[in-house]
This record gives sequence, structure tokens and C-alpha cells, in this order.
Amino acid sequence: MAAGRKGSRTVQAAGSPVVLGPAALAALQAWTIAEARHVRHFILGDENTLRHCLPELQGHVPALREAHIMAVAPGERSKSVDVCHALWSHLAAEAADRQAVLIALGGGVVTDLAGFVAATYKRGIPVVNVPTSLLGMVDAAIGGKNGIDLDGIKNVVGTIRQPVGTYVHVPFLRTLGKRELMNGVAEMLKHGLVNDAKHWKAVCAAALHDLKALEPLVLRSAEIKAAIVDEDPQDADKRRLLNFGHTIGHAIEARSWESPQRGLLHGEAVAVGMVCEAWLSWRSELLAREALDEITVVVRERYRPHHLDPVDHHRILQLMANDKKNADDRFRFTLLEAIGRGRINVEVTAAQVSAALDHYRLLMRDGPKEAV
Ligand SMILES: NC(=O)c1ccc[n+]([C@@H]2O[C@H](COP(=O)([O-])OP(=O)(O)OC[C@H]3O[C@@H](n4cnc5c(N)ncnc54)[C@H](O)[C@@H]3O)[C@@H](O)[C@H]2O)c1
Ligand SMILES: [Zn+2]
Repeated sequence: MAAGRKGSRTVQAAGSPVVLGPAALAALQAWTIAEARHVRHFILGDENTLRHCLPELQGHVPALREAHIMAVAPGERSKSVDVCHALWSHLAAEAADRQAVLIALGGGVVTDLAGFVAATYKRGIPVVNVPTSLLGMVDAAIGGKNGIDLDGIKNVVGTIRQPVGTYVHVPFLRTLGKRELMNGVAEMLKHGLVNDAKHWKAVCAAALHDLKALEPLVLRSAEIKAAIVDEDPQDADKRRLLNFGHTIGHAIEARSWESPQRGLLHGEAVAVGMVCEAWLSWRSELLAREALDEITVVVRERYRPHHLDPVDHHRILQLMANDKKNADDRFRFTLLEAIGRGRINVEVTAAQVSAALDHYRLLMRDGPKEAV
């Protein structure tokens, strides 16, 4: 970790600085003056982030007051080829050259989209991430993965390319809704589970509505994500630690959008996935029973139970298979050896996944005693 300007600290994620803390936006102002004073600045946001966060950004970063603003509609649907086309055209019509800087002000949708547009416009212009959602701050804005969706498949087109900087300013979360906040908390819990038992305890104990209490935990989570990316920029091995809860979680998320009950947010599905995968860790004799119980209680207290139908199992397995199945009917999971220690590349069979889904279903129906 490097000391940054007073009130901020800077960590590296694959050579890309992530500036954390109350003075993060002051650091962005300093960077803009020093490195990008004479270039054109384009800020990309969605309608919510431009309304709630742009005045604060420009208040702290006067160098961006003259920036050209580009708006997209909020939501996943903006991660599309059509929206990219509109943004590329817009940049070209404004005669943006290769020195132009694109500043992404928003949640994961905006940073994923901006990262891809910046990677491809004129063969690449610099992008700066200013995440405004909790999921963005602790996850999506860090690591350089960007991309868009195609034919209903998420993130199928994209690149890995680092932003020139990421500036994490926690007060933006003031206007974020509770459901969106809990969406990001799931990733924070995951960071604790795979990497840092103390962080897990702290997130479990935190008053999540109290931004002052939450701030150091958000920064710690961003730091954990950055450190893991730094060890494995190209997503070859160590970064798989971050997949805990996601192998089953992704499939449950996709399935939830196919069924009549409301679709799950990513973090809500990951919460379900973490219960299932903690159970798999216990069944694989990696994780102690007490640790499984602790994880289960925490998730049950914080997230609404998700109704899983036994007839969904087949479809969930199919969605998982589209993603990551090995030739021999096995999946490769990231599981837990303990709270605070993940293990990558654990082989799990389809039958075990099905048993984990059964476990979750019975747990939500009957409570913990019936679930063993
Ligand atoms: N690149 C990666 O490594 C990575 C990692 C995780 C997720 N993602 C992607 O991130 C996306 C999800 O990100 P998300 O959950 O941030 O979604 P999002 O960007 O859609 O933001 C969620 C909602 O919150 C609003 N919002 C954001 N900040 C706000 C603020 N400060 N005040 C009020 N409203 C605010 C947005 O307008 C939106 O309506 C997905 O597309 C996912 O694929 C990418
Ligand atoms: Zn995730």
C-alpha cells in the first residue's frame, strides 16, 4: 500500500492505481491538473448517477466542470452494442482524439460500458473509474474487466484493460437505495470469506445504514479486490478466489430472470450461492460445521429467502454447464477451507450441486435444524 494525498491511500491493481478514502476526489483533481489538463474530458453516467453524483464530483474536481457529459439510461440494458454505437458516434461527432479521457461515473453498468467504449474507440483512449454504487466500489470498477451483453448473454463481448485510475469516494452511497446497498454487501462478505476473517467479522457486525461505519469496510473490500487482481491480472488462477458463491450464484441469477418471481440482483443471487457453496465446502470436508452455520445465519439474517423449485435444478445445472463445465461432468468450484481462506479448483459433481440446491431449499422452508 502506498500513502496517497492526506486523507487517501493508493493501492495497485495490475499497475492501475486505486485511490481510497475521503481525499480520493482531491487526488482526482490533482491527477487531472497534472496529467490531463489540456485534454478533453468526457464524463459518462446514467441518469441517476448524473443527477445524484455529478454535482458532487464537479464540486470536488473543478477541473471537470467543463467536461462534456454523456448520459445513458440506467440499468443492464445499456450494456449493449446499440448503446456502444451511440457512444462511439457521439465521441466521433465531438472529434474526441486519442488524448481524450473518458470518466465513468456510475455503478458497474457504467464502468463496464465505459471501459469497453474506451478500449475500442480509436484503438483505445484512457478511462478513469469513479464508482458510485457499492458493488462498483468494491468490485466492478476494479480489475479492468469491461464488456457488454449480447443476445441475452451477460458480458460476452469485452476486454481486460486497466483504467488509468479508480477513485473511490464513499459518500456517493448516500443516495443509493437499500436493496442496491445490500447487493454490494454480498461481495464484501465474500471478500472476508475468501481472504480475511477479520473483515468478515467486521462486515457482519457493521451497522450497514451508517455510512461512517461502513466507509472503512468499503475501502478494505476495495483493497482486497485490488490485491487479488494485482496478483493475477489476466484471471489465470488466484483471481478465481473471487468466484466463491458465483458458480451457483450466477446460474440462480440467470434462472430468476426466467421465472415469474422477481429477478434477483447479482449480490442477492451470490448470497444464495454462498450458502450453497459453503455447504459444499462442508460436505467436501474442507470447512468446519460451525463455520458453515455461522455463514448460513449471517446470510439468512440479511437476505430474503429465495424460493427454489426442485424442477429448477435441471435448468440451473444447464446454465452452469453453459459456463464452466469440464468434459467429465464435473464443475470446478472455489470453496472455503475456513472463514477467511478460500481454495480454488475444487472439483464438484452435478449430483453434489443438486444436493446443495436441495439443502438451500429445505433450509429456507424448514429452518436450519432440518437442513443437515
Ligand atoms: N467488471 C467487473 O469486474 C464486474 C464485477 C461485478 C459486476 N460487474 C457488472 O456490474 C453491473 C452491476 O453493477 P451495479 O450493481 O453497480 O449496477 P448499476 O450500475 O446498474 O447500478 C445500480 C443502480 O443504482 C443506481 N446508482 C448507482 N449509483 C448511485 C448513487 N450513488 N445514487 C443513486 N443511485 C445510484 C444506478 O443508476 C442503477 O439504477 C453488472 O452489469 C455486472 O455485470 C462487473
Ligand atoms: Zn460478483
